Amino acid sequence: MTTASRPFVPHAVGTAMPRPEGPQKVRGTARYTVETPGSDALYLFPVQAGVARGRVTAIDTSAAEALEGVVAVLTHENAPRLAREADADHGVLQSSTIHQHGQYLAAVLATSSESAREAASLVSVEVVEEPHAAVLDEDSPDLYTPEALVVGVTDDTRGDPEAALAASAVTLRRTYRTPMEHHQPLEPHATVACWEDGRLVVHDATQAVSWTRQALAAAFGLDESDVDVVAQHVGGGFGSKGGTHPNTMLTALAAQAVPGRSVRYALTRQQMFDLVGYRPATVQHVALGADREGRLTAITHDVVDQGSKIGEFVEPAAAFSRGMYAAETRRTTHRVVPLDIGVPTFMRAPGEAPGSFAGECAMDELAIELGIDPIELRLRNEPEVDPESGLPYSSRNLVACLRRGAERFGWADRDPAPRARLVDGWWHGTGVGSASFPVPRFPGSEATIRATGTGDTAGYTVEIAASDIGQGARAALTAIAADALDVGVERIDLRIGDTAFGPAGPAGGSAGTTSWGATIVEAADRFRDKYGDHPEDGDEADAHTPDNPWAGEYSMHAFGAHFVEVAVHADTGEIRVPRMLGVFAAGRIVNPLTARSQFLGGMTWGLSAALHEESVLDDRFGHVVNRDFAGYHVATNADVGTLDVEWLDEDDPYVNPMGTKGIGEIGIVGVAAAIANAAYHATGVRVRSLPITLDAFL
Ligand code: MOS
Repeated sequence: MTTASRPFVPHAVGTAMPRPEGPQKVRGTARYTVETPGSDALYLFPVQAGVARGRVTAIDTSAAEALEGVVAVLTHENAPRLAREADADHGVLQSSTIHQHGQYLAAVLATSSESAREAASLVSVEVVEEPHAAVLDEDSPDLYTPEALVVGVTDDTRGDPEAALAASAVTLRRTYRTPMEHHQPLEPHATVACWEDGRLVVHDATQAVSWTRQALAAAFGLDESDVDVVAQHVGGGFGSKGGTHPNTMLTALAAQAVPGRSVRYALTRQQMFDLVGYRPATVQHVALGADREGRLTAITHDVVDQGSKIGEFVEPAAAFSRGMYAAETRRTTHRVVPLDIGVPTFMRAPGEAPGSFAGECAMDELAIELGIDPIELRLRNEPEVDPESGLPYSSRNLVACLRRGAERFGWADRDPAPRARLVDGWWHGTGVGSASFPVPRFPGSEATIRATGTGDTAGYTVEIAASDIGQGARAALTAIAADALDVGVERIDLRIGDTAFGPAGPAGGSAGTTSWGATIVEAADRFRDKYGDHPEDGDEADAHTPDNPWAGEYSMHAFGAHFVEVAVHADTGEIRVPRMLGVFAAGRIVNPLTARSQFLGGMTWGLSAALHEESVLDDRFGHVVNRDFAGYHVATNADVGTLDVEWLDEDDPYVNPMGTKGIGEIGIVGVAAAIANAAYHATGVRVRSLPITLDAFL
């Protein structure tokens, strides 16, 4: 166990700081992956499967090869072999088997993207189709219980919740549904790969250069030291860029066939719906038992997730219910239906986002049943310690968020009766939803600090393979490094986004700032122990991510509360959200500028998930039909009303030296529930399935 030997004193941390790379981004000189210059560049365009399951029986590439500018056409018959059999399943030209619609069946390399695309359309593929299943059926005979979730056990039971439910004064049993959703960062997934002298150099739109390097090294049978992965600027991540998907593998594989030449592949917007993951659909059964005063006696939350036969990812939606409220008995379970579709993956607040829709709507329904104000119901069920682990909280300020939010939003003036306020043809209502997100720390980052120059004016180069996916890691880590070294931010030269700087955890799990920041503080501490505050040019110290000595003693979570107003048109059922307020208790806020954007972004996505986002699978072919921005609507300016964000000062000495809790994901948690609850208050219509569309109110 290692821990910083001097207290972290915030100066730059907590002060608004523009992004150091901001001017480059505004001027268009910040290079994103696909803009990486390369020698003899080739463009890749894939040929994809049009069936969900089957086998390729013949591929004719002659017409494609004859097209001017085409350098190679790779298929499973001539592509280089990967080292890992497992990757044969991931659609990178290793076999004739088709596991999902959209799987890569061939890849054209050409000197222009236009030629590559045209040539791809000339490849003719014969397939034999096999029966498949693509759409979630919760009664499927294939339903199974996974071994574990990313957040621990799949089934967590305390006491006898069924007996408690049967004995409760009030029992509520409801089923909630959330749809398949696809990540849509502004920058699509993109890779530029080049093999030189047996080394693989990859520029990739990734949230984790280290993870991408690991995946590539394993697939190609290389030492990690023979793979470089670089991601200087990433245009949004949200989880799909956390894992390594077939597009990155395919680009590196294709580059292997043309050594010395760089191959580039940026997904089209439509291809974003195929092979880079999604949030799986869920069916969630929630039961709450309570006494007449609203004290919960039982919580059960049983989830069925849409899954894939190719690989397992379980959306841990019920995990949300393990720690939110005190109840003597509890059960949470997860089961999966494996289907002939791609593998789901992390998507902003995986688990909590859909799980809070069910959990926080159920609390609203119970409040109405009991005739208790929904905020008061939550206050009456505030736990003393973490109901899941039994540990005290390092800090838990949900109550403060609810109270402050109620005050700022004007909750006291709310008439609890539904369908009571009709203004100019629109029914208005208000709703609330709680939020929570854990504070994990990823191990295994490395930070190096080096003095450039001597004495009081020395600069410090700080290297760590962190990823800035737009969240503002450059600003946040610069401020943390400056405070840890007790110098001004202008003396810090932060370098990130490159495996040359050693291994590092991902920009994910809302844990980037915590994991990288704690590592930088540790390195700074060692630097000052070794050289004091008057270093010589070239003095250097490094550190790996320290364990958190308090990890087993306290439960660590951020909390928040969302308040929304909705308006539903009395005649058409159109639903609008004119006003949203989020109040958060998420530890110390490093950079108010970028933090505000993070919260606003999360809340906007919550609105988007509540009202718009749904990937519609066509069961006949196993593909998403609404596969572009015309059909898959994400909230844009016209959909968003007034957004208001506030955070409470929180001084948590246990989470990490900086006192930060992570803010990337909590902004989305609980928003959809608050909107559904407000829609009920406006209209008297309870919608338990997302997205909430106008037909629900007609
Ligand atoms: Mo996030 S879903 O941990 O990128």
